[in-house]
Amino acid sequence: MTGLVKQSAYKRVLLKLSGEALMGNQKNRSIDPVVLGAIAAEIADVVQLGVSLGIVVGGGNIFRGVEANTEGMDRTSADYMGMLATVINSLALQGAFEKAGVETRVQTAIAMREIAEPFIQRKAMRHLEKGRVVIFAAGTGNPYFTTDTAAVLRAMEIRADVIMKATKVDGVYDKDPVKFPDAVMFEKISYNEVLAKNLKVMDATAISLCRDNQLPILVFNLQQAGNIVRGISGKQIGTLVGD
Ligand code: GTP
Repeated sequence: MTGLVKQSAYKRVLLKLSGEALMGNQKNRSIDPVVLGAIAAEIADVVQLGVSLGIVVGGGNIFRGVEANTEGMDRTSADYMGMLATVINSLALQGAFEKAGVETRVQTAIAMREIAEPFIQRKAMRHLEKGRVVIFAAGTGNPYFTTDTAAVLRAMEIRADVIMKATKVDGVYDKDPVKFPDAVMFEKISYNEVLAKNLKVMDATAISLCRDNQLPILVFNLQQAGNIVRGISGKQIGTLVGD
């Protein structure tokens, strides 16, 4: 085990997955079991490396609070619905991880004791020390905060070395790579540049929280199989956002 730990660049990682990542190509299903299985297999490899792992998953495959708000729904209610969606995704991931032999705990920021244990930072630390993956559900428990901000908050609370932000593209580009084929990807970029150029890595609250607490962000492509382990092992993938 000790030898394996040396192969990883990071010892403790917070992985941020989007809810949409769980849909795969089946746009008529919010959660694709094949995608869950593929993510779980990668997570099992990460745990084998001796890396301790926290996860935050979004809820956009089920419900998007911000969009519902623009369509006339009360923002607070819409955000709570989005937070509940993250609980569904967290339970789906937990099931898949445990099927792959990875001991996993779900902690929720909104109390629902029948479903999951409450978020308790010290308990989360103990789970991580015991080699369990901890999935943090229900965002920060507050409206007006994104799941990216929740991920940064949890990353700091568990003292993660890095936050790995999974996306559908290879990293951070100077313009939208889907619309502009000549878009150029950065290998490294500063927090301030991301904020000044509004590069949409994460929302501004999340980015500035990372900047103020010196938490590096590794933006990478989840659709490339093996990328989670590659990133954690320190191989050059994606874009590193730092100072
Ligand atoms: P330790 O024994 O302290 O190492 O951790 P543990 O998580 O194995 O023990 P614990 O007795 O706290 O939890 C046993 C199981 O019950 C785990 O799957 C927990 O996630 C779950 N659990 C713990 N507290 C709660 C809770 O308040 N509500 C729900 N629904 N499950 C809980």
